[in-house]
Amino acid sequence: MSFEAALAAIRAQAPDIRPRVGFILGSGLGHLADSVDGVAIDYTELPGFPHASVSGHSPKLVLGRLERVEVAVLGGREHYYENGRADAMRLPLEVLNSLGIDTLFVTNACGSFLPEIPPGNLMLVNDHINYSGRSPLIGEPTDRRFVNLTEAYDPGIRAQLQAVAKDEEIPLIEGVYAWYSGPNFETPAEIRALKILGADAVGMSTVPEIILGRFLGLRCCAVSVVTNMAAGLGNEQISHEHTKASAPVGAAKLEKIIRGYLRGLT
Ligand code: HPA
Repeated sequence: MSFEAALAAIRAQAPDIRPRVGFILGSGLGHLADSVDGVAIDYTELPGFPHASVSGHSPKLVLGRLERVEVAVLGGREHYYENGRADAMRLPLEVLNSLGIDTLFVTNACGSFLPEIPPGNLMLVNDHINYSGRSPLIGEPTDRRFVNLTEAYDPGIRAQLQAVAKDEEIPLIEGVYAWYSGPNFETPAEIRALKILGADAVGMSTVPEIILGRFLGLRCCAVSVVTNMAAGLGNEQISHEHTKASAPVGAAKLEKIIRGYLRGLT
């Protein structure tokens, strides 16, 4: 029911929009939503969208054009750690899917394990480790729940993003993102364990959204903005304030990558 109501609310305000690419913006990365030429709808006007507490500001869905491509930007997400719901972003993604997106582009802030990807840089996610063990598809009754995640991070999109990064002279190393439930940060021992498991970075989001994206048949990609070295690997004090304060450096690079990618679609 929320689905229909949210769709109707969107259709009332943006009747002609046919977005091709859907974005989810991570902590401190919300600026991109302001660059979209279109209509902004507060989540509070959209039944079933996450309401309170997303990073302390009021998130919006923005529908419009960026680099002449029609896009739908989810300016905030509900994290698993907020209410223990791994499927919190299912309805918003279903709505975007029904508006017509074929691609889901997810962004996040993360802690890096790799000295070659220090804070202020980007990591292109090429695979993930679901360290939380949660799935947004628990309770989904149909056989569609058995989603194949072999190439969850679309190789074709990764190649396109790599080409843009090369043009823009932005380092874009690929790596494995581990999803940690949060909201507390990890211990140094957990980071050592995740490193042994094969992760290159850690964060508290993205994985459930990529699983949902693949469930919906969307091509998916994710770019992480490194805001800190993960626990025990750097000197800075890890905190949410630090994440938000450090995100803009990498966010400027991310915006160039996103704009270049969209220009390549026209
Ligand atoms: N851990 C988890 N999530 C994060 C981190 C981190 O070090 N930095 C930004 N988001």
